[in-house]
Amino acid sequence: MKIAKNRQELSNCLNSEAPIGFVPTMGALHDGHLSLVQESKSRGLFTVASIFVNPTQFNDPKDFEKYPIDTDADLKKLESVGCDIVFLPDPEDIYSTDEEKQYVHDFGDVETRFEGAFRPGHFKGVGQVVHILFDLVKPNVAFFGQKDFQQLQVIKQLVGQENLPIEIVGMPTVREDDGLAMSSRNRRLNKGQRSEATLLHKALTYSKTSLKRQSFNHIRQEVQSMFADSAELELEYFDIIYPDQFIPADRFHEAKTYHAIISAYAGEIRLIDNMQLA
Ligand code: PAF
Repeated sequence: MKIAKNRQELSNCLNSEAPIGFVPTMGALHDGHLSLVQESKSRGLFTVASIFVNPTQFNDPKDFEKYPIDTDADLKKLESVGCDIVFLPDPEDIYSTDEEKQYVHDFGDVETRFEGAFRPGHFKGVGQVVHILFDLVKPNVAFFGQKDFQQLQVIKQLVGQENLPIEIVGMPTVREDDGLAMSSRNRRLNKGQRSEATLLHKALTYSKTSLKRQSFNHIRQEVQSMFADSAELELEYFDIIYPDQFIPADRFHEAKTYHAIISAYAGEIRLIDNMQLA
């Protein structure tokens, strides 16, 4: 596995004729990230992973400062799944030129609703860094986790709007045995928070099993009460939405698809999850 620490080193490593699979990450890797690399390798792609904690996507500076960094462990994990290149740029290397403004895009409603409403500017930062990374790595296929469901829609929109010749693959959320979605932030949870954090998955599972039996408003109220009883978690939002438009759904129709999305705080730690309901 080669390590590229800047644009020049990356370009020197990228001389392969083989199609490229790309896994952008912010490090603190877990099995969810590794499943993306494994998928890329299983498709026979020359696989590049990046580790870059992108400052422009953090609306909360404390969250940025506390973002876990463990590069040595990350490199070992990437090597163990056969990653070919790891790109480890510094912020100056990504945002070094005036060109950075041309990477700021408008994603319309999908960037302002739910995650976008609670984290203003977040998706502009994600779109910006992912587009810069795409231009540097020039992948044929890029892999993202479905856990960041709204982010995945933003990236698909980016590729469509900018006409980028990149296939975007959304991979299933990898979960702990008790249902908690794997996330780099989970390692900051204390024992009590960790044990109650399963509530997000319980709420999503409850909404899936109740979808055809209960009104959507009843499900919304039940989820609110589940969280009102929790000593450790505070619900930020829960909703049942039409996934294409990211707008709340009113009632069940056989012909439509529905998604549940949820976000909650455990102390200062923000957790998100989602589930396709029908
Ligand atoms: O999902 C993430 O880890 C980040 O948002 C991404 C896509 C690597 C961009 O910084």
